[in-house]
Amino acid sequence: MRAYLLKTERLGLRNWLPSDELPFIEMCQDEAVMEHFPKTLSAEETIDLIHRLKTHFDTFGYTYFAVDVLESSEFIGFAGLKNQDWESDFTPCVDIGWRLKRAAWGKGYATEAAKACMKAAFSMFNLKEVLSFTTDTNIPSEHVMKKIGMKLIGTVQHPFILNDPRFKHCVVYKLENGN
Ligand SMILES: CC(C)(COP(=O)(O)OP(=O)(O)OC[C@H]1O[C@@H](n2cnc3c(N)ncnc32)[C@H](O)[C@@H]1OP(=O)(O)O)[C@@H](O)C(=O)NCCC(=O)NCCS
Repeated sequence: MRAYLLKTERLGLRNWLPSDELPFIEMCQDEAVMEHFPKTLSAEETIDLIHRLKTHFDTFGYTYFAVDVLESSEFIGFAGLKNQDWESDFTPCVDIGWRLKRAAWGKGYATEAAKACMKAAFSMFNLKEVLSFTTDTNIPSEHVMKKIGMKLIGTVQHPFILNDPRFKHCVVYKLENGN
């Protein structure tokens, strides 16, 4: 049995395992999954990302958690909370984010995992507010933000996308504890 920090009806959220490396490398090399990012990731970049997410978990107790479907124990991507300290009017902050493999889209998993993360943000990690950022072209991601009750508070230029003409702006959403 895997140790899940958070469970929903269909999903388990946990720290990253070595067995996540191969499926996550595959996901991060999928052009559709990475459509709203500057580029797909190499295997080395993906493994480095997993290491950073594990270190974040060990330091703060939360991270972008690995997500499994409970029924099958299949790893389908990540959803979770992460400190953001890049320079902007909205940072430093804790944000909520998600990235699922293509076969797991359209089943409500992102919203289900995000709701559990948001609840934990306030009840388990005592955060006052959680922000979320996405390019204004990423309609599915913005849709998840709205579905979990977040409100649009502005736009920002993310350092990731500053030099990429495909992405002019990121939308910024926020939910405060108690709202
Ligand atoms: C963003 C992303 C996670 C959204 O995934 P998603 O599957 O579209 O999101 P949801 O979990 O909300 O599911 C959407 C649809 O599943 C269906 N659904 C919802 N609940 C369901 C349930 N309980 N059972 C079955 N289907 C359900 C609905 O049709 C829903 O759409 P609707 O709310 O418009 O009716 C996904 O597109 C992705 O991984 N993209 C690539 C990475 C990325 O861009 N990440 C964000 C960077 S900021």
